[in-house]
Amino acid sequence: MVTPSFNARRWVLITGASAGIGEAFARRFAREGWNTVLVARSRDKLESLARSLGQQHGAETLVIACDLSQHDATDEIYRKVKEAGIRLEGLVNNAAIGAHGKFHEVVLDRYLSMIDLNVRSLVQLTHLFLHEMMDRSRGMIINVSSTACYQPLSYSSVYAATKSFVTSFTEALWLETKGTGVRVLNLCPGVTKTDFGTAAGMRNFRQDPLAEEPEAVVETAFRALKHDQPTAVSGWQNRLRLFLERLMPHRVLLAAVDVYQKTVHREER
Ligand SMILES: NC(=O)c1ccc[n+]([C@@H]2O[C@H](COP(=O)([O-])OP(=O)(O)OC[C@H]3O[C@@H](n4cnc5c(N)ncnc54)[C@H](OP(=O)(O)O)[C@@H]3O)[C@@H](O)[C@H]2O)c1
Repeated sequence: MVTPSFNARRWVLITGASAGIGEAFARRFAREGWNTVLVARSRDKLESLARSLGQQHGAETLVIACDLSQHDATDEIYRKVKEAGIRLEGLVNNAAIGAHGKFHEVVLDRYLSMIDLNVRSLVQLTHLFLHEMMDRSRGMIINVSSTACYQPLSYSSVYAATKSFVTSFTEALWLETKGTGVRVLNLCPGVTKTDFGTAAGMRNFRQDPLAEEPEAVVETAFRALKHDQPTAVSGWQNRLRLFLERLMPHRVLLAAVDVYQKTVHREER
């Protein structure tokens, strides 16, 4: 089994790198000596991050500003990476959005964009870059799922379902790539102190007592890669909660989830 080196100047592509967990991944990889391809819609934030990674860590960066919910975005990313002569050794599929509210009250387009971003673009990028990683018997893919993948979430029904897809898909890839030199990790953060909840229409998100810092989530991923874990749930509180949830009768679990979703993550009105 090849252990990914965190010392050489290798290239990693990170989606959703302009903020939150994606930005924390970019800073951590640059600190470990990697060059980065940064993808998100906000070009100015990506360029400012690229300057910072260059100044602080001497990292080279390619910025690709695009909307990953658009169907041609991933082909465009692949083309730009190849034109730049970059051979990726790492891919972090991190970009995702949520939407809080009763399913039928949220506009359908929001859900379709969410599925395009959270699921379709992740599958496409994985397919595009896993090919060459397998050819070289070397590489690493981190797909960012969520603890939301383990139970249905009322008021975030489609989001939780997209994350169940990501976990199922990624663990299957972990099995398929085992022993090949390509590492695959399914990363499940719990509530994390980013602007994700606000963008999804939740309030009290950052005040959640279980909320972690994005850097702690990234640390979990790096640790899990070293041990070739299929899945890493970030935070002992989240791991304990999931363990207890598995002991509950299913209807009790569903009722508890509903109370939590109604009280902690109330809709922004
Ligand atoms: N925060 C949490 O509590 C939490 C919990 C569990 C799992 N997660 C997962 O962690 C990952 C990162 O979330 P986060 O908390 O860091 O969220 P965040 O702070 O809201 O960041 C989301 C990132 O995705 C980018 N993005 C959004 N829509 C995009 C699009 N259409 N095309 C390209 N990029 C897009 C955003 O940049 P632009 O706006 O510039 O495009 C931003 O860089 C997601 O997969 C999320 O599901 C988060």
